[in-house]
Amino acid sequence: MTPGARIQAAIALCEKIEAAPVPADGVIAGYFRKRRYAGAKDRRAVIGQVYNLLRRRARLDWRIREAGHGPSPRARLIAYLALCHENLGEETPAPGIEAAFFTGERHCPAPLNAGEQALARLEPPLERPSMPSWTAFEYPEWLDGRLRQAFGGSLDGEMAALNEPAPLDVRVNALKGSRREAAQALADEGVDAAPTRLSPQGLRISGRVRLDSTAAFRGGLIEVQDEGSQLIALLTGAEPGMAVLDLCAGAGGKTLALAAAMKGSACGKKASGELAASDVSERRMAAMKKRLVRAGAGQIERHVFAPDDDPWLAQNRERFDRVLADAPCTGSGAWRRDVTAKWRLNMGEMRNVIASQRQILSKASRLVKAGGRLVYATCSILTAENEDQIQWFQETHTGFTIIPAPKAWEETIGGACPCGGSFLRLSPASTGTDGFFAAVLERKG
Ligand SMILES: C[S@@+](CC[C@H](N)C(=O)[O-])C[C@H]1O[C@@H](n2cnc3c(N)ncnc32)[C@H](O)[C@@H]1O
Repeated sequence: MTPGARIQAAIALCEKIEAAPVPADGVIAGYFRKRRYAGAKDRRAVIGQVYNLLRRRARLDWRIREAGHGPSPRARLIAYLALCHENLGEETPAPGIEAAFFTGERHCPAPLNAGEQALARLEPPLERPSMPSWTAFEYPEWLDGRLRQAFGGSLDGEMAALNEPAPLDVRVNALKGSRREAAQALADEGVDAAPTRLSPQGLRISGRVRLDSTAAFRGGLIEVQDEGSQLIALLTGAEPGMAVLDLCAGAGGKTLALAAAMKGSACGKKASGELAASDVSERRMAAMKKRLVRAGAGQIERHVFAPDDDPWLAQNRERFDRVLADAPCTGSGAWRRDVTAKWRLNMGEMRNVIASQRQILSKASRLVKAGGRLVYATCSILTAENEDQIQWFQETHTGFTIIPAPKAWEETIGGACPCGGSFLRLSPASTGTDGFFAAVLERKG
């Protein structure tokens, strides 16, 4: 592809991403599946530019409006090329943006009109001192108050970290080997991995590598899972001999971690405990099956909830020592992994997940036995989905006490908890993980 054709591809992709109510990754993969002629180097260059632009969208739009224009994918690309030279590498256009890219030649974008020429003359740096926080740190203005409530004075740093690319973490499957063995197996295949700071089961991979072709992945020794997710599963405190339920199991990311923690039960030995997984989505639960096999996790009781009243709930009342409710949420803690999610989120969706979380908390509480624990978790950073939900739960349900995060951490993970107070809060800026919240609630004996 010529440099102009790459820019045209980036504009076309940004248009598709803007029009699609789904994560950018899927749109990009679909785009290149239909364009096999694009080589690996072209794909890398185009994808790199698209993500660089998406991570600067609010700031670019601000500069475009300041210049008297309306934002559009093409306007953003022009402003991006003008304002972010450092991202152009060796293809920095000496003769100017128009001559280098917008030539109107075959596969290249059409020449700039008069208004666009003004955008092409914008001067770096991208940031302006007068930009408000939500523009400078790339988050929706309507969430400003809610995010300030969660982070106070550290909001800017938290949002900056949440706008960076996410690292690649794996959880080492104790059913198949140790962390040292996994690091060695990966090193043997040319993959550099270092122990994660907080999770005793994690490895952080250096660089961008495809893990699904490694022997360690295919043999079930490792599972891709953010360090934060690993910590939530560990905080559940599942042990051999217990009855444990992963209530919102999805495709089983945390179920697999619970299975490894319960060892015996994961290998199908009833005496070592019982692990169950449930979800409302049959499709997600189906995706769990082959992961369980690869991980050597054996048979796990699986239940798909009926949409309304489900008899399974009554049958299993007060059955479990541990119930993990990894509730559906806005996913705001994982914005690093889905760069357009924040722009797709709206108030209606947020209200829906809050209602769903309350229903799940109620449902989960009925399944915990006396002395057992309910762990409520989200990958959201918003107080409304986290602390406020626990406050609502305590006001509407009796018989549960909050186990403070440092105590729960010491009992399950061991060592110093990264945060004090009642709840566990993780974030890219504070713990180098995705954003997570967890509350540990114990049913009184
Ligand atoms: C955050 S995801 C779970 C991710 C999963 N635990 C993992 O670690 O991979 C939330 C899940 O909750 C499920 N869900 C939504 N409403 C539910 C309900 N009322 N009861 C149980 N699960 C529900 C969704 O289908 C989704 O799979």
